[in-house]
Amino acid sequence: MSIEGFRGTELKAPITQAISVAWKSPSNIALVKYWGKKGRQLPVNPSLSMSLGVAFTETRVTAKPRLHSGPLALEFIFEGLPNPAFGERISGFLLEMEQIFPFLKEVDLLIETSNTFPHSSGIASSASAFSALALCLCELEEEFSGTPVPDFYKLASYVARLGSGSAGRSVYGGFTLWGKTDALQGSDDEYAVPLNVHPKFQELRDAIILVNKGKKKVSSSGGHKRMESHPFAAARIQQAVQNIQNLLNALSSGDIDTFIKITENEALTLHALMMTSDPGFILMDPETVRIINRIVELRDEYAIPMCFTLDAGPNIHLLYFEKDREQVQQLIVEDLLKKDKQNWIDDAFGTGPERILFTHQD
Ligand code: PMV
Repeated sequence: MSIEGFRGTELKAPITQAISVAWKSPSNIALVKYWGKKGRQLPVNPSLSMSLGVAFTETRVTAKPRLHSGPLALEFIFEGLPNPAFGERISGFLLEMEQIFPFLKEVDLLIETSNTFPHSSGIASSASAFSALALCLCELEEEFSGTPVPDFYKLASYVARLGSGSAGRSVYGGFTLWGKTDALQGSDDEYAVPLNVHPKFQELRDAIILVNKGKKKVSSSGGHKRMESHPFAAARIQQAVQNIQNLLNALSSGDIDTFIKITENEALTLHALMMTSDPGFILMDPETVRIINRIVELRDEYAIPMCFTLDAGPNIHLLYFEKDREQVQQLIVEDLLKKDKQNWIDDAFGTGPERILFTHQD
């Protein structure tokens, strides 16, 4: 099935009953970064990420029969309170989704959503939020059509990607690749695919060190946009393609040194691209720089295989292995964190989204 051409079932009879579905879906951390887009939310380079196990969004979507002739009415509740700003973004997205899911023309929606990670922790939630919503929409399609959606997760990834590019990678657990590359058969710009990796990498943990919980000065979409006229764009795409090839090899052979080298190279490249954009911008704080330098020193001093990566923000993801958990967590609290020793999230390799069971059905 071509996902690009996927269209859900046109309903034969009017909807008479409300139906609720719910999913929890993880955030992910990119190791090879998606930075720059083209066309309809397609990536200019392939990216590769690990889905997390603790940072989740939980979303319940209730579709109710539409009893008016206007457009879809959306009630969007975030952590128990209406959130008109995010609701507006979701409304625009849902309008676009009517092409894929015709049932959306017949319903009003109540979307209730919350994150398992602290509110305004500076952790981007669009990947977990859009993947949870996409999974709910795919399940509603199954409910209304009465037939299973072929390639359920592929479609969910496609739909999530249209909401937020990196969200397409969150519909799978473990390691995921998004973007067409000769290095992986079956890879695609339209949706992400799950990867098999050496069992060593299933033992990865991610300590998210919260340097600054404030809103970012430049959004991801602002950053992607600046890649369109970036003087280093062509070289960056070439580098990402090479890093993907080398990281895929490292992930399947269990080569931790190469994993560390590529992961840190990508983090620094992402921020270097921001600084060399026009206009340039800096999303690292002085504290970010202090901590990443210290991580490198500690790695050498204690010979612990660990590394840092960064998202589009000042917070640090410290990646390390389960066997070193006690020692690394001690170093985080006693060495890396100077002030608030609680300012980190203890996350790890995650196994992916789950349907949440609940009994509510009107
Ligand atoms: O999915 P977006 O548009 O929020 O972009 C995400 C960009 C990075 O987080 C910086 C990298 C990535 O691949 O997740």
